[in-house]
Amino acid sequence: MKIERIFTVSSRKQLLSQLKKELLELAHLGTSIGVLEWDRQVNMPPGGSGARAETLAYLAGLWHKKFTSPEFFKLVNGLMAEVDAGTLNSQELCIVKETWRDLERRRKLPTEFIEKITKVTSEANDVWAVAKKASDFKKFQPYLEKIITLKRRQASLLGFKKSPYDALLDGYEPGMTSDEVSIIFKELRDFLVPFIGKIKNSKTSINPDILRGDFSIREQEKFIKSVAKKIGYDFNTGRLDISSHPFSTSFHPTDARITTRYREDDLFYSLGSVVHEAGHAMYEQGLLKEHFGTPLAESRSLGIHESQSRIWENLVGKSRSFWKYFYPHLQKEFPKPFTEVSFENFYRAINCVKPSLVRTEADEVTYNLHVILRFEIEKELIEGTLEVADLPKIWNSKIKEYFGLKVPNDRLGVLQDTHWSGGSFGYFPTYALGNLYSVQLYESAKRSISGLEEYKSRGNFKPFRDWLRKNIHIHGKLYSADELVKKATGEPLTPKYWMDYIKNKFSEIYSL
Ligand code: CO
Repeated sequence: MKIERIFTVSSRKQLLSQLKKELLELAHLGTSIGVLEWDRQVNMPPGGSGARAETLAYLAGLWHKKFTSPEFFKLVNGLMAEVDAGTLNSQELCIVKETWRDLERRRKLPTEFIEKITKVTSEANDVWAVAKKASDFKKFQPYLEKIITLKRRQASLLGFKKSPYDALLDGYEPGMTSDEVSIIFKELRDFLVPFIGKIKNSKTSINPDILRGDFSIREQEKFIKSVAKKIGYDFNTGRLDISSHPFSTSFHPTDARITTRYREDDLFYSLGSVVHEAGHAMYEQGLLKEHFGTPLAESRSLGIHESQSRIWENLVGKSRSFWKYFYPHLQKEFPKPFTEVSFENFYRAINCVKPSLVRTEADEVTYNLHVILRFEIEKELIEGTLEVADLPKIWNSKIKEYFGLKVPNDRLGVLQDTHWSGGSFGYFPTYALGNLYSVQLYESAKRSISGLEEYKSRGNFKPFRDWLRKNIHIHGKLYSADELVKKATGEPLTPKYWMDYIKNKFSEIYSL
């Protein structure tokens, strides 16, 4: 349904400003929901959960009603005629097309369907938690079967060219197809499985326990905040709090917050997560506030978002040059145990590779393999070539094949992640894509900032942060992920940079 008439210049301008006004109002609602959600996870007393859920549901309903109203549809649909007529500039095009895309995806799903899937996933999530605790997949199985059926229905409602999985993936990584992901992941898997085997058989042994100590939480917080500040996370437009799972959330480019949790014996339990979340939040702080409310001030995709966290967590936070600057500070703040630990042993310990059963505990090398395994399985589930009942069997055999490990129970196996119980199919690949983007971007930054490692080792992270700001952050959704990466690195996404980086870094660490 398109209207034929092309608007005059003045009415086009009027419609565009009307659209921006409506989007800004939606963003105000979004911000309110975001603050309440942040508060729920950070401050709320447990007894408040019922009432808060009602408030959040009410506000989400208001948002949905406004976004899917016939008036709003008419407005955006009218402007879509301008897209076809070629009368809009690139920023206007972005605003109209991205809003239309979001609107279309929502309009294709009937309200009854949304209600059904919300109810089923909310029940399934509770059952999953119980089943995980009891390490009993059978309990969860019928719920997962219901979810798969609904997800297949969702894919057919949304539409797809080749695989129903593509329709779901498109919700997280717009424009990416499962064929593209399959090709990249196969190359990664063929490299990783033997490479991890080599590390396992290497004679170099690394003891990560030398990092253990007795670290007061107050001292940890002080040190971690100083690191986050130094790398460029702005505390004037951000803050650090405690929650049971670390996350970052943004209400506006001038208010992008992060959380962490602490363990007294392990400083890196919190430090790694803070550098990761600060990377996410710096992306949000770098979006342009004058575009707030429009897609021009929204992050491009989950994969690009994850690249911004991984680039700081790994390429910066686990590099020699970064620690050349910070290690003396760390030793000063925590003489025990670090005055006893040489720089080289410290560097190896923070980069220790150990194939594990659990994705969230995985190191830089093995992490992607966990994602690949999940992608292979969930794609088959959605395409209908794998039965839910066979899930534990296939999971365990892949873990054996890829990591050489035996899965002792479902809790440490197929039940470990929450994603499937919440209906998030197509989400996992974005974690690995983020890793690939991160190295490709880093290598490009290294080519354009001469002496980048030198800057880092002197504690000057500004040139690098500014490079990310200029090449990624400020663009919002103006370019597709593909265009953004091509512009920033000169070529489309390729796994070769990630593989070279991993091979070089860890061959050196493990003397391969
Ligand atoms: Co992340």
